[in-house]
Amino acid sequence: MNVLHIEASPRGEQSNSSRVANAFLAACAAANPGLVVDRLNVFDCNLPAFGREGASQKMAHIAKLMASGEGLEAAGEWSGVLAEIKRLQDADKVVISSAMWNFSIPYPLKHYIDLVCQPGLTFGVNAKGQYVGLLKGKPLQLILSRGSEYRTGFPGADDGIKTDYQSAYLRHIGAFLGFGEVGEIQIQPTDAKGPQHAAGVIEAALAEAREAGAHF
Ligand SMILES: Cc1cc2nc3c(=O)[nH]c(=O)nc-3n(C[C@H](O)[C@H](O)[C@H](O)COP(=O)(O)O)c2cc1C
Repeated sequence: MNVLHIEASPRGEQSNSSRVANAFLAACAAANPGLVVDRLNVFDCNLPAFGREGASQKMAHIAKLMASGEGLEAAGEWSGVLAEIKRLQDADKVVISSAMWNFSIPYPLKHYIDLVCQPGLTFGVNAKGQYVGLLKGKPLQLILSRGSEYRTGFPGADDGIKTDYQSAYLRHIGAFLGFGEVGEIQIQPTDAKGPQHAAGVIEAALAEAREAGAHF
């Protein structure tokens, strides 16, 4: 089994989400001898650029797809897009661990998402005009840390100021790209109630990760 771990915290050994993800993957490895983990830290890995050239190539890709059913060949920034999509397609299962930044995801994870969400490659459109994900029901595990506490349910489940776009957005992208079962471990609050409370929160998340990882 080949698991792609997309890691979205720059804090290395200090990272709550990475620590819980590592416990999840260790339990998964113990239950699955021969497990291969492909680790992609979006802060460290120098993601391919996707700017002026990539955006215009995406539009040319769509036009070519509609005209001939064939997408664009690898060239320039589009080569980076195709390489990241291949890496994602090659994974049997995917783990995303992420800090919450400003109620959502850190910007390099959004960069990654902007690379891999591509028509004809990771999603399509059916005859009714609906989006259809092309990732063939791969399982997705989310491991999400946040300094404050967020209630489940979106939108309107919180106090109007603290709104959880992190889980909601990643779940939306997961469904859009055609992931199958989605698991989620929330590590919260890691900051708002002080270090002693945070230690208990992290211990509980580590225990949840060991259990979930063994059955991933
Ligand atoms: C730039 C930045 C923005 C943050 N924004 C939020 C936020 O909007 N809501 C929140 O609850 N915590 C926020 N936090 C706190 C982190 O989500 C929290 O410390 C989390 O546990 C960090 O995960 P990590 O240790 O895996 O990096 C922010 C932290 C940083 C560094």
